[in-house]
Amino acid sequence: MSDPLDGDVRFENEGTLEPLPVVRERTVVMRAVGLTKIYAAVASRGGSASKGSTNQGSARPALELFRGLDLKVHAGEMIAIVGESGAGKSSLLHLLAALDTPTAGEVWCGEARLSLFTPKQAAEFRNRDVGYVWQFHYLLPEFSALENAAMPLLARGMRRAEALEKAQFWLTEVGLGDRAEHRSGELSGGEQQRVSLARALVTEPRLLLADEPTGDLDGKTAEAVFSLIQRLHEAHGLTSVLVTHNLEFAERCDRVLKLREGRLVDGRAGDGRV
Ligand SMILES: Nc1ncnc2c1ncn2[C@@H]1O[C@H](COP(=O)(O)OP(=O)(O)OP(=O)(O)O)[C@@H](O)[C@H]1O
Ligand SMILES: [Mg+2]
Repeated sequence: MSDPLDGDVRFENEGTLEPLPVVRERTVVMRAVGLTKIYAAVASRGGSASKGSTNQGSARPALELFRGLDLKVHAGEMIAIVGESGAGKSSLLHLLAALDTPTAGEVWCGEARLSLFTPKQAAEFRNRDVGYVWQFHYLLPEFSALENAAMPLLARGMRRAEALEKAQFWLTEVGLGDRAEHRSGELSGGEQQRVSLARALVTEPRLLLADEPTGDLDGKTAEAVFSLIQRLHEAHGLTSVLVTHNLEFAERCDRVLKLREGRLVDGRAGDGRV
């Protein structure tokens, strides 16, 4: 049986017998240790929100999101992160993608410690190691689906013809091979989300981080996009962390972790529902 919180394999008789030989090594791709995130208070005009203040006179009080949050992501896993709106799911993905830095604690990707990255290294990490699907897809409406999908490769200076060829492959993978020349602003919501998936995967990242990739879609389209993510996850050996409000989709992932009171807890504990 695997431990739902850290994904490590545990045996029923653990501790009572000689250790069993390792059957399958499970590489930890990403590890978050003791994360704390505090969004500082913002002073109102004329007020003060100094360090350690009681928030008096601040327009926005300090907000502590995570308190000693731990997470291990193993190679090939598909993890669902669930939790109430405002629990900090997007903020957590931002920390994992080096889009933001924690107030305390560390995120590791393999041997790399994200907090030690220079801004240039962080940008390279995001471009090479992480495929990110945003909660709001941020496609460039005036550019074609093909150019949007190719954007991370063009940003790293790849030759245009080569970048477009790779983008065409990924558009075909998401079922939009025949829509390459459409401007993204002319595509439907589900098609736009699929372009954003192609854009996330065009760099062949080791990690897919997707923030409510089906959040804005109707039931049938959401099912199609989620099934597509599952298929690509399997077919391309991805390691994926998906934020979702859809409990049925969460149940189809390898592990369900719920963000509650600043920590991740087993989302399937209790009555077996997330
Ligand atoms: N840059 C920021 N500065 C201050 N507060 C922030 C910032 N970003 C997020 N927050 C606050 O942190 C909390 C968590 O936000 P976050 O977007 O991570 O939630 P979420 O779990 O993704 O919610 P949803 O399900 O609605 O997308 C919210 O109360 C939000 O207002
Ligand atoms: Mg969010």
